[in-house]
Amino acid sequence: MQYVLGIDLGTSSTKTVLFDAQGRQVCEASQEYPLYQPQNGWAEQEPEDWFQAAVTTIRKVLDKSGVPGDQIAGIGLSGQMHGLVMLDEEGLVLRRCIIWADQRTAAECEEITRRVGYDRLIEETCNPALPGFTAGKILWVQRHEPELFKRCRHILLPKDYLRYRLTGEMATEVSDASGMQLLNVPGRKWSQVMLDALDLREDMLGKVYESPEITGRVTESTAQATGLAQGTPVVGGAGDNAAAAIGTGVVRDGRAFTTIGTSGVVFAHTDQIAIDPKGRVHTFCCAVPGAWHMMGVTQAAGLSLQWFRNNFYPEDKDYVQINADAAATPIGANRLIFLPYLMGERTPHLDADGRGGFVGLSAIHTKKDMARAVMEGVSYSLRDCLGVLNEMGVHPDNMVLSGGGAKSPLWQQMLTDVFHCNTCLSSKENSAALGAAILAAVGAGLYSSVPEAADTILQYTREAKPDQAHAQKYSQVYQVYRMMYPGLRDAWKELARL
Ligand code: XUL
Repeated sequence: MQYVLGIDLGTSSTKTVLFDAQGRQVCEASQEYPLYQPQNGWAEQEPEDWFQAAVTTIRKVLDKSGVPGDQIAGIGLSGQMHGLVMLDEEGLVLRRCIIWADQRTAAECEEITRRVGYDRLIEETCNPALPGFTAGKILWVQRHEPELFKRCRHILLPKDYLRYRLTGEMATEVSDASGMQLLNVPGRKWSQVMLDALDLREDMLGKVYESPEITGRVTESTAQATGLAQGTPVVGGAGDNAAAAIGTGVVRDGRAFTTIGTSGVVFAHTDQIAIDPKGRVHTFCCAVPGAWHMMGVTQAAGLSLQWFRNNFYPEDKDYVQINADAAATPIGANRLIFLPYLMGERTPHLDADGRGGFVGLSAIHTKKDMARAVMEGVSYSLRDCLGVLNEMGVHPDNMVLSGGGAKSPLWQQMLTDVFHCNTCLSSKENSAALGAAILAAVGAGLYSSVPEAADTILQYTREAKPDQAHAQKYSQVYQVYRMMYPGLRDAWKELARL
């Protein structure tokens, strides 16, 4: 029997999942780690925590399942995108990773745009300079920690740091590399224009592979620490959203998914590269070789509800009470609107200074209304993302939902009504880890292509259709929601200046 392993390095935890060659989940383990927020809008993590979480969880799934390491045909990595991991000459980590959610680089993004020129930037990287992306973080360290940057010899993304520790190879793959803003996204290779603009040498970055290609093999010391067999192939893998696309079967034109994880994403596959000239959605290489995807991002999706739970329902670990309270509250939360910009925003408002809010609070409201408003506000923000994709000619007639938020039937029906589109769930959980494992299965030769593997492995469940009356009510509230960002934008700028 052959197996594949998917390791998903998320923002709150790393999850390792063992699948058989048909994509059936055998066993999973996860381990959490801290997020450091040294200042308002900053977000950092410790790369060593990721590696330890990977070692612990690999060992756990092997021990629990009893599957011997030498029956694992391949390993795929998926991970939070955009983070900056810097290593010195010896391959040692120089500082905590500045992760995707960090918003400190607004000035650096302006500087990158000035150096490269907006049009050129879009031509090369398909995206405007965004605070979440890696390039701005590199310039920030160059400007604010120049002594430290002088010692920087290697720059890696979070999951690629894990690859380095597992295999000794410094490598990346096209989907995650697209989010660094250093890749020529149409050509799927490092961009000399961007390297020159940031005074970087190509040898500081890893070799770029396509996602199912083998990038390295498990070393002897990793094998000893984890129970894996030395020499097990590790394929390129993918950024978390590109991996989730594979793990939800979004591998062909016309297919799309929405995920509510820490961040929220509306993602559509495309065989022909397409770019939003206003830069409101990202165009990245996808994990299907030779194809791309467009995606809109809500910075704080699950994060908004998690923040609300932590502060108002601290005992409600599984979100059961929050869901019950929100379900018992009418659409529109009794005229209360939540703006989910807790970590700034990307789609459709590229704004690092945007912040969250409850608008319309009255003395009649309780935390139940607030709970519903949070779920609705996140849904409206995802509706904004879908709207931009619609403008680009993408009109999915079915949306696969994934991520922790999709587990909630209330949230599924809300999205179905707000999107006015049929939705379903993949019959398989852990889409990002599964996507990474499918890439490993293709790399190991168990399938001939990524679409063939995804089509064989995936089925759908929990189909939902819009309720016309509810959709109409949501649409009225959504129109009001859309008035709020333009009304508050300048106030948030002032607030950031205080
Ligand atoms: C995508 C993005 C997030 C992170 C964290 O552009 O920033 O989805 O990958 O999950």
